[in-house]
Amino acid sequence: MIICIGNALVDSLEQIEESKINELNLNKARMTLVEKDRSNFLLSNMNNPVYEAGGSAANTAYWISQLGGEAGFIGKISNDDLGEQFQSSLKDSGLKDLTVFEDADNQTGLCAIFITPDGERTMNTYLGAGEHLSVEDLDNDELEKAEIVYMEGYLWDKPSSKDAFLKAAKHNKETGGKNAISLSDVFCVDLHRDSFIEFIKNDIDYVFCNEDELNSLFQSDSTNSSIQYFIENFHNVEQLICTLGPEGVLILANDEEYSFRATDTIVKDKTGAGDFFAAGYLYGLQKKLSINESAEIANKSAAYVISEIGVRPKKTF
Ligand SMILES: Nc1ncnc2c1ncn2[C@@H]1O[C@H](COP(=O)(O)OP(=O)(O)OP(=O)(O)O)[C@@H](O)[C@H]1O
Ligand SMILES: [Mg+2]
Repeated sequence: MIICIGNALVDSLEQIEESKINELNLNKARMTLVEKDRSNFLLSNMNNPVYEAGGSAANTAYWISQLGGEAGFIGKISNDDLGEQFQSSLKDSGLKDLTVFEDADNQTGLCAIFITPDGERTMNTYLGAGEHLSVEDLDNDELEKAEIVYMEGYLWDKPSSKDAFLKAAKHNKETGGKNAISLSDVFCVDLHRDSFIEFIKNDIDYVFCNEDELNSLFQSDSTNSSIQYFIENFHNVEQLICTLGPEGVLILANDEEYSFRATDTIVKDKTGAGDFFAAGYLYGLQKKLSINESAEIANKSAAYVISEIGVRPKKTF
């Protein structure tokens, strides 16, 4: 089983004109953590939003499961309507639901997502119950059985979820599993650069990131030199999977560099591109497919999710 750990969120998505980015003082194409008041303010500026289960690692678990892989999700929700919506989406996908409830009076996390005409997504996350995820919430029996534990870097933003992340990785490694991390967002890498680097060197087997995140990790402005630096300094990492947007992906594995073109599509909403890419690739790893085959499923999965609004596409894959 591949266990994904992350912030449990419901997305509220709305398409906007480019000018709204400035009007609402949004940080375009990034994920920004917001407080409840700001979250409510942004929601009140949506006219006709689509509500749907989301969250980076949860999207990945969802899609691994939809592809026919075996996945589970650990995250924290509240006992409210959003929590119910989140959980029923996980259940529908057939994955192992390891979500836990927050007892304190708190709302399930919510991500206000604005989609501009270029298909770019701008996310504003109120973590709610999710930020209380802690070591006690981990299902150690399931972690022991996991082949891969996949964690989103966003968890690093709060001390208790970061502790849970570190503990899960350690436990999984001790019991013979592999660890994977998604670097999540440039802002996340910027804030946690040194501890990310240390953690990757000590405990990580698969690194998923996009170009900007990789360059931010090494404070470099050239992807080639970041890749070179990675090759020279991260011998413990089995694979680096660095997505390149419409250019596809660059993969470092077995001391070789591979690149694969993206699947042609018309981009409606980029939300979930990285999450679905990771899901397709992890599915390939689970099924012991070749790097070529895994990358193909991953590129197709990403192209599929970005061709519709939101992260639960309706058309057949
Ligand atoms: N314009 C595009 N056309 C086709 N495929 C694309 C396009 N943009 C992204 N993709 C697919 O999505 C994958 C991930 O995209 P990208 O490198 O932009 O990741 P990201 O920035 O992490 O995405 P996200 O918006 O989900 O955070 C790419 O490797 C590719 O397969
Ligand atoms: Mg991403």
